[in-house]
Amino acid sequence: MAAETVALASDHGGFELKEQLKKELASKGYQVLDLGTNSPDSVDYPDFGQALADAITSGKASKGVGLCGSGIGISIALNRKKGVRAALVHSGLEARLSRQHNDANVLVMGGRFTGIEVAKDALNEFLTAKFEGGRHTRRIEKLG
Ligand code: RB5
Repeated sequence: MAAETVALASDHGGFELKEQLKKELASKGYQVLDLGTNSPDSVDYPDFGQALADAITSGKASKGVGLCGSGIGISIALNRKKGVRAALVHSGLEARLSRQHNDANVLVMGGRFTGIEVAKDALNEFLTAKFEGGRHTRRIEKLG
């Protein structure tokens, strides 16, 4: 079976964490689609949120990781696009619940708030936990 493709995007505030998580994904055998940014120079998070949202809705990637300084700006940008369910998390448990209950397709974290070990744990939970369906399906459907 072909490796699952995970797309990553960040602004400058999430750049370092993106580079670290990119290595983590590659070491676990995932196909990585890096949508930038590619340096710590200042950029605008809506541009990267939109690129990541497009990668998810077009099917270029089945899941995504969005990062900015706080995680707030890029999660707002991502959730403007129909079909994207971006979850801003600060722990592995929240990441797991975002899959089990919300069928989140993008994991969001803040590069200035979340350390690498917590970020790796959250990434692992996000990629391995399964949507539970049932009552949660009705709720996802109400999101449109
Ligand atoms: C950039 O300085 C910062 O505002 C951005 O990364 C993010 O935290 C916005 O929500």
